[in-house]
Amino acid sequence: MNRGGNQGAQPPVDVAAIARAVTVLRAGGLVAVPTETVYGLAADADNPRAVRAIFEAKGRPADHPVIVHVSGVADLAAWAVRVPDSAMALAQAFWPGPLTLVLERSARAHDGLTGGQSTVGLRAPAHAWARALLAEFGGALAAPSANRFGRISPTTAEHVRSDLGERPAGRVDLILDGGPCSLGIESTIVDFTGRAPRLLRPGSITRAQLSAVLGPATKRAFDDELAAAPRAPGRLEQHYAPRTPLELVPPARIASRVHELAPQTVAVLTRHLNERELNLKLLLEASTTPESFAHDLYANLHRLDRAGADRILIAEPPAEPGWDAIRDRLLKAAAGSVNS
Ligand code: TXA
Ligand code: MG
Repeated sequence: MNRGGNQGAQPPVDVAAIARAVTVLRAGGLVAVPTETVYGLAADADNPRAVRAIFEAKGRPADHPVIVHVSGVADLAAWAVRVPDSAMALAQAFWPGPLTLVLERSARAHDGLTGGQSTVGLRAPAHAWARALLAEFGGALAAPSANRFGRISPTTAEHVRSDLGERPAGRVDLILDGGPCSLGIESTIVDFTGRAPRLLRPGSITRAQLSAVLGPATKRAFDDELAAAPRAPGRLEQHYAPRTPLELVPPARIASRVHELAPQTVAVLTRHLNERELNLKLLLEASTTPESFAHDLYANLHRLDRAGADRILIAEPPAEPGWDAIRDRLLKAAAGSVNS
């Protein structure tokens, strides 16, 4: 059995590498930067041409908005025209950290960042390398996750190297290696531009943590929205997908599913299998806590995808609120892999 992923330590900030990255950004180039969630593909947010280059490198449709990364709460006023008290309260509680706020944009947030929408996504990352880069650069960084559109998000510099690559052969001018991301899944996104706050994407900051800051009215709004949200994987955007078809299977059904699929080969992520019983391409042991499961999730998906199996089987995570973000990413991965 293999625990999957690794808990490699974060190397100290490499000041010379940060200086090189600032030079690249000022020239309108692209830098892959570690954050506590996933690696981002960063460009100068105030340079529309540089922002366009992000979309070209990823192969991403131009009407998708990107998150603008800032140093902290003091930058909100430059990018948003109206910051509701509740949004400010969340920023004060969770920044720097894995929280993105969607707000009414200011004139500075050009169409290239917002996909032509009247809103902008803002986040202050916590990772020491990202913070050092923001401080040295002095501006804001537009950055989606540093993967090709629809593919698995990167949580190590190696993931970025093998997916996008560094110039001259690859698509990124400079890849900063700040070690494996500590959280491993993308930020929680909350939209403050409607009547009530809306959770657009679950992340490490849970509904319960958001509600504790925002109060009971928000908890009710989140609960209503959850009840109304589409749960069928086919209706979700294709995202985070391995090339190998991926199936989510109830834990108790994994072994029988492997037998059913034979002679097709499988790579499996579960705690509920005795590998000696079965002929598997790869067996990774799933973590028991949402934190460590999230930390290893994308690294495990990359490994399962590279195992050369006909199919990936993943045991469904527990149906508990703490696993919301993980369930969301797994459903999207399953939907994307089947349809692509
Ligand atoms: O943790 C993260 O958020 C990572 C790191 C690099 O910060 N970034 C990330 O970016 O996941 P990306 O582009 O892969 O996902 C950003 C999501 C997209 O689903 C996008 O639609 C949404 O944020 N988003 C950005 N701006 C938005 C806006 N103005 N309104 C609605 N959604 C927005
Ligand atoms: Mg992404």
